Amino acid sequence: MRIFVTGASGYIGGSVAAALQQASHQVLGLVRSPGNAELVRALGIEPVLGTLDDGALLARLARDADAVVHAADADHRSAVDAMLAALAGSGKAFIHTSGSSIVGDQAWGEASGKTYEDETPFTPGPGRTARVAVNQRVLAAAREGVRAAVVSPSLIYGPGRGAHRESIQVPRLAALARKSGVARHVGRGENLWSNVHIDDLADLYLRVLAHAPAGASYYAESGECSMRRLCEAISRALGWDGRTQPMSKDEAIAEFGAGPAAYTYGSNSRVRATRARRELGWAPRHDALLETISG
Ligand SMILES: NC(=O)c1ccc[n+]([C@@H]2O[C@H](COP(=O)([O-])OP(=O)(O)OC[C@H]3O[C@@H](n4cnc5c(N)ncnc54)[C@H](OP(=O)(O)O)[C@@H]3O)[C@@H](O)[C@H]2O)c1
Repeated sequence: MRIFVTGASGYIGGSVAAALQQASHQVLGLVRSPGNAELVRALGIEPVLGTLDDGALLARLARDADAVVHAADADHRSAVDAMLAALAGSGKAFIHTSGSSIVGDQAWGEASGKTYEDETPFTPGPGRTARVAVNQRVLAAAREGVRAAVVSPSLIYGPGRGAHRESIQVPRLAALARKSGVARHVGRGENLWSNVHIDDLADLYLRVLAHAPAGASYYAESGECSMRRLCEAISRALGWDGRTQPMSKDEAIAEFGAGPAAYTYGSNSRVRATRARRELGWAPRHDALLETISG
C-alpha cells in the first residue's frame, strides 16, 4: 500500500513509518524541514515538505494515498478536517493518534482506583475537551465512508525507530532530575500511568491498518506504574540511591506548564487495551518500563 504519514520525523510517526516501510509498504512522510527530509529519506521514506496548516496539501496527499496515519499532533483540528474531507466515501483507512491523557484527572500526585477500557465513558477535563472533540470527529468519519480509527497511546518508552528517537515523559523527568540533582514527581507521586513500548505501539498501528473496523478506538498499554516509582528508577539510572522529591502544584506548573502538569505528570491515566488484544490479536512483548530505565 501507499501510505501517507504525518509526523514522519517524530517519535511515534517515525517509528510507525519505519515499521510500515519494513512491512513493504510505500511510505510518504510529511516533514517540516529539509534536514528532516534527509533523515526520513535515509530510512526509506519519501519526504514531502509541508505543515499541518496546509489543508490543500494534506487533502491531496491523503487522496493520493491508500491509507493515512496521522501522528504529528493530537490536537490539530483543521488538519484532521482536511484529510477526512478528502477521504470521504473512499473506504480508506485513517488512523489518528490521540493520547491516554484524555482520561487524565487532576489528582496532583494522588492515586486513583479508576481504570478505563476502550468503551468506558468519561468526561474529559477542560484541558482535554478539544482533544476529545478531535477524536469524536475522527470516529464520526466512519459514517462518511472512511475506515477511521483512533489510537490513544499511554506513556510510551523505548528508542524510536525514526529520526527522532526520544519519547516525552521519561526523558523530560530525567532532564529535570539532572537539573535538580534529585528525581522529582508531582505531589506524592502516587499517581499511576499506563505505559507501552514503542515497538509494541508500532505493531498496533500495523494491526489497526490491516484489520480495524471503521469507527474503532484503541488504548495502547501493557503495564502501569506510579510516577514515584518511575522517578525512583530514573534516580537509580543516574547512579543515585533511588531517592525522590515531591514538587508542589505551583512548582509543577512552573516546570512543565499548566496542561502537562495537570494532565500528564500529576494525573492518573490508567487505561486497559482490552479491545486491541481482543479484536486485533495485539500481544505486546514488552512490559518492563522500570527495568528499561534502570538498565
Ligand atoms: N510520546 C508519547 O509518550 C505520547 C503518548 C501519547 C500521545 N502522544 C501524542 O502523539 C503526538 C506525537 O507525539 P510524538 O511523541 O511522536 O511527538 P514528536 O516526537 O514531537 O513528533 C511530532 C512530529 O510531528 C511533526 N509536527 C508537529 N507539528 C507539526 C505541524 N504543525 N506540521 C507538520 N509537522 C508537524 C514534528 O515535526 P518537527 O520534527 O519538524 O518538529 C514531528 O516530526 C503528540 O500530539 C503527542 O501529544 C505522545
